[in-house]
Amino acid sequence: MISYRGGLCPPGQLHLMEKILFKHNRPDRVITCDEYCSEGGFSALRAALSGMSPEEVQQATIDSGLRGRGGAGFPTGKKWSFVPRNLPGPRYLICNADEMEPGTYKDRVLLEKNPYLLIEGMILACYALGVEHAFIFIRRGYEQAAENLLRGIAEARKAGLLGSNILNSGFSLKIELHQSAGRYICGEETALMNSLEGKRANPRAKPPFPAVKGLWGQPTVVNNVETLANIPAIISKGPAWWKAQAATPEAAGTKLFCISGHVRNTECFELPLGMTLGKIIDGPCGGMREGSSFKACIPGGASTPFFTREHWDVSMDFDTVAKAGSRLGTGGIIVFDQNTCMVAATLNLIRFYARESCGWCTPCREGLPFVEHILERIENGQGESGDIDILREHVNHLNYAFCALAPGAMGPVDGLLRHFEDELREHITHRTCPFTKV
Ligand SMILES: Cc1cc2nc3c(=O)[nH]c(=O)nc-3n(C[C@H](O)[C@H](O)[C@H](O)COP(=O)(O)O)c2cc1C
Repeated sequence: MISYRGGLCPPGQLHLMEKILFKHNRPDRVITCDEYCSEGGFSALRAALSGMSPEEVQQATIDSGLRGRGGAGFPTGKKWSFVPRNLPGPRYLICNADEMEPGTYKDRVLLEKNPYLLIEGMILACYALGVEHAFIFIRRGYEQAAENLLRGIAEARKAGLLGSNILNSGFSLKIELHQSAGRYICGEETALMNSLEGKRANPRAKPPFPAVKGLWGQPTVVNNVETLANIPAIISKGPAWWKAQAATPEAAGTKLFCISGHVRNTECFELPLGMTLGKIIDGPCGGMREGSSFKACIPGGASTPFFTREHWDVSMDFDTVAKAGSRLGTGGIIVFDQNTCMVAATLNLIRFYARESCGWCTPCREGLPFVEHILERIENGQGESGDIDILREHVNHLNYAFCALAPGAMGPVDGLLRHFEDELREHITHRTCPFTKV
C-alpha cells in the first residue's frame, strides 16, 4: 500500500494515494453489487456482525477521529455516544443527503458512483447505535442517486444484509429512502426531522439535541452521506490506518473536495484531509485556467468566508481552516480569478440564502433580504458610505438567528468585509462596479 503523506508525496503522484470513498468507482457508471462484493464490499459488515460488539464499532469510530462531513465537523463517534441506551422506544439514524449548499456536490457524486458504501456504512452505524429503523433523506433532484440507493437497498435485503436477523446476528434493520421536496433548510438536522414527520421544515430549538429527542421524540443521530460512507473502511482497515490517510497528523482520513470556478479541472476529488489549499489548486485542479490568476476562493461551501492568496499554504482540515478565519464546511471549493467582482460574487450567494430562508425567525427572514438589498445597491453604483458599517453590524446581528442558516449565509459577507473592503469602497466612491461584466 502506498499512501500519500503530506509533503512526502508531490501532488503529481496523488494517484498513488489509496482511495477510500472512490476506491470502487468506475469512470462512466455506477458499480454493481457483485463488483462491490468481489472487491471486499460488505466484508466490514460481516466482520463486525460476527466478531465485534456494537460498543467496539462505536469505539473504532471514536478512535479514527472521523469528523462529520456535513459542514460542522462534529466528531462522529462522540455524537453517537450521546445517544441514551436506556430510554424506551426506538432510536433512529437519518442519513442527510439533502446537499443544497452551493458549490457542494460530493454526496451526489458518491451516490451516483457507489450507493453500497453508504448502505454498508449505515448498517454498521445502526448496529453500533442499536437502531432498527433508518432513513435516507435525499434531495428531490438527485434522481440517479435515489434510483441507485433503491436498487442497492433491495439487493442488500435480498442478500440478507438488511431486514430481520441480518447474517444470523440477531440484529435487524430497515432502511427507507425519503425524497425531499427540496429546500435548503431541509438540510438543517431539526428542520429535516420536521420535514420527515410531515410538518413544515422549520428548525427546532436545541436543546434538546436530536441524539436525545429527535425524530418522533426519540433519540436520533443525523449524519452526512460522506461521514457514514467512511465507516466500512474504519472497521475493515482499522481506525489507525484510516486516520493516517490524512496529510498531517492533526487531520484524520481523506475528504471529498468538490471544485468549481476558474481552475482547469472542476471535479470532485478524494484527497488527504489537511493538504494545503495551494497544493489542491496546483495539483488535482490543474492550476488556474489560461489567463486567470488566483484572487480568492470559498474554501468549504458557499456559507464559509473567503480565503485569499495569504491562505495559499493553509492546511485544509477543520481546525487549521477555522484558525485561519474560515470553515472547512463541506469541502466545496469555489475559485475566483482576478476578474471576479467580489461584491457581485457575494451578492449572488446572498440572493440564494435570502430566497432559501424558511422565514421562521425575524433576523433571517428580514435580515438576509436587507443585506441583499444593500449589496445590490453597492454593486449597482448606488451605495452609500454608511453601507459598509451596516453590513458589518449585520454580520454580528445575524449570529442571533434561530438556526445556523443566517450566520452561515453571512460567511461570505464577513469575508468580503475582512479581505475586500477596498473593493466595496471603490464601488461606493466611483459609483460603479470597477469590473467588466462578461
Ligand atoms: C441551513 C443548513 C443546511 C444544512 N444542509 C446540510 C446538508 O444538506 N447535508 C448535511 O449533511 N448537513 C447539512 N447541514 C448540517 C446538518 O444540520 C447536520 O449538522 C449534519 O447533517 C450532521 O452530519 P455530520 O455530523 O455527519 O456532519 C445543514 C445545516 C444548516 C444549518
